[in-house]
Amino acid sequence: MKIAEKARDHIRELCLKDNNIFGMNAYDHHFVSVVYYAKLLAKKYGADEEIMETAAWLHDVGSILGDYKNHHVSGADYAGKFLKELKYPENKIKQVQGAILAHRGSVKVPKKTNEQKCLADADAMSHFNELGGLFYLALVARKLDTDKAIDFVKEKLERSYKKLSPRGKGIIKPKYKAAMLMLLPRKTI
Ligand SMILES: [Fe+2]
Ligand SMILES: [Fe+2]
Repeated sequence: MKIAEKARDHIRELCLKDNNIFGMNAYDHHFVSVVYYAKLLAKKYGADEEIMETAAWLHDVGSILGDYKNHHVSGADYAGKFLKELKYPENKIKQVQGAILAHRGSVKVPKKTNEQKCLADADAMSHFNELGGLFYLALVARKLDTDKAIDFVKEKLERSYKKLSPRGKGIIKPKYKAAMLMLLPRKTI
């Protein structure tokens, strides 16, 4: 089994556990899309596909284990231990950890390598693949009313778009524009 598949299966197991507050919604409506864009960007921009896919599966592990605030740091630590146990080469572990550490747009860790840039973009781009998942978060997890849920989704997409690199913006722009159009305040009589 490939290393990225082992990472995928491990994340799936963690998401299935009862004590994970995000549940399978995180797996189905976030991780899967981050991996999709991570692979797409790796191909397009020549990043290492194995590193990208493995890092994408593991990037939010800190968060699903309960440490949202510092999940880039705790996630990188956890990924390091997990991959070491699987005897993954040390230099590749470092690259996966570097990408996890730098993946958050809201935390200013400089993105130096191509893999770090691609993962941060894939994370932000994933939201444009997952409008349903965002509405689930707003309406079910946060229990917002419909109008507030629309604002929540719109603001989340605006923030995600701002986080993207210029090349990421170029890819996602049609979806961003379409989403903003659909989320405009509805016309009333
Ligand atoms: Fe994250
Ligand atoms: Fe994420």
